[in-house]
Amino acid sequence: MTERTSLTVVLAAGEGTRMRSSLAKVLHPVAGESMLTHVLAAAPKGARQKLAVVIGPDRDDVAREARRLRPDAAICVQQERLGTAHAVLTAKDEIARGCDDLLVVFGDTPLISARTLEKLRGPLSQESAVVVLGFRADDPTGYGRLLTEGDRLIAIREHADASEKERATTLCNGGVMAIAGRVAMELLARIGNANAKAEYYLTDAVEIANKCGLKASVIETTEDEVRGINTKAQLAEAEAVMQRRLREAAMEAGVTLIAPETVFLSADTKFGKDVVIEPFVVFGPGVEVDDGAVVHSFTHAVQSRIGKKAEVGPYARMRPGTVLGEGAKLGNFVETKKATIDAGAKVNHLSYIGDAHVGAKANIGAGAITCNYDGFDKYRTEIGQGAFVGTNSSLVAPVKIGAGSYIGSGAVVTKDVPDDALRIERAEQTTKDGWAKRFREMKMRAKAATKSESK
Ligand code: UD1
Ligand code: CA
Repeated sequence: MTERTSLTVVLAAGEGTRMRSSLAKVLHPVAGESMLTHVLAAAPKGARQKLAVVIGPDRDDVAREARRLRPDAAICVQQERLGTAHAVLTAKDEIARGCDDLLVVFGDTPLISARTLEKLRGPLSQESAVVVLGFRADDPTGYGRLLTEGDRLIAIREHADASEKERATTLCNGGVMAIAGRVAMELLARIGNANAKAEYYLTDAVEIANKCGLKASVIETTEDEVRGINTKAQLAEAEAVMQRRLREAAMEAGVTLIAPETVFLSADTKFGKDVVIEPFVVFGPGVEVDDGAVVHSFTHAVQSRIGKKAEVGPYARMRPGTVLGEGAKLGNFVETKKATIDAGAKVNHLSYIGDAHVGAKANIGAGAITCNYDGFDKYRTEIGQGAFVGTNSSLVAPVKIGAGSYIGSGAVVTKDVPDDALRIERAEQTTKDGWAKRFREMKMRAKAATKSESK
């Protein structure tokens, strides 16, 4: 059997006034991704699975976000908000091109899953012409009620238009609808606006289908999955549901979360095997944690990679572009940004490492800072492998610290330091001499060690 074709129409023209925000409603994030992105991620994809997004006028930002995930999306502008059926019909050119299954989903229900949308399409390949996603509401006020007879859905009655008896029904419309492509245009075109709100209701498609002798049916899901977001409080509820799902999935995949309810993930957080995450850790978008890594409490990371068996925190802040190599360590009160820290390197306390590369096994002392910004531009710092940077050193970029070199504490380094160099500033001559002697001995030992290793 060939795969059925589909067109998913995402309704995202709502103004979202109750969010009290200048950001379009569907662009508000849940677990680090916009609500629209979550919905688009659930829509069928692949060959001959098309997508149209209905947006309000002057909403280039929403169009851009839609195209970011689905460059193939058709963007349809609904000039006036005249109801959900009217919104769907702004995509009539796309619908007229024909498909087996037409899916209508709302842009402000970010918890909908791909699996549920697949399930909804199922009965369309048998005898149903319309399939509606229903749920049992704790409090059905405001939702459309699903009026059924046996396994048939007879009508959807909007709350404002429902009788007392109809309002007693707790089976509600979740908002997602699947319509057989071959009858979709005909059903939609017949929807009028003779109702309490004088809107063109998509939900009327059900009664019209029944009048035409077509079958409509219901597939049930949980209230969580069809939660519509209209306010910041509902946004926070959706966030809570999504976080629970992400934590469960992480633990299912073998990640140890000691206190899962205190760990915040993003929809795209990736974990390897045997990862341990201590309480109170926040991962923004774009974080990858490789096998065996340990993330200690109060760490905050965004667009960063934590390498195999690396150790981070407590209290580390990894800003975008941080890449930690195998077994590398970032300790307490260390901030990094656009920094590659190679295998076995240590930045254990109170440092800022930005626009920098730290070579393998280098040791960055407490309070060492890469001074990457001169008030006008940003510059890079290059620290060679095995270098030792003493406490409270300021590395004034652009600057290179040679491999195997030794920088005494409190240095202000403004010029490149060659490989294997000893640089001590703030010490008495006698101490410096003692240091120089120890440094020579250390180097000799290191050389001998590498020789015996290569034998
Ligand atoms: C809708 C359903 C109701 C269901 C509920 C579930 C209709 C008529 N009613 O009601 O049965 O129980 O969802 O949450 O469909 N939109 C547009 N353009 C418009 C109107 C709406 O793009 O002209 C979009 C909105 O942005 C929103 C979605 O369609 O994402 C639903 O519209 P909304 O007004 O929230 O419908 P409800 O009254 O909640
Ligand atoms: Ca709504």
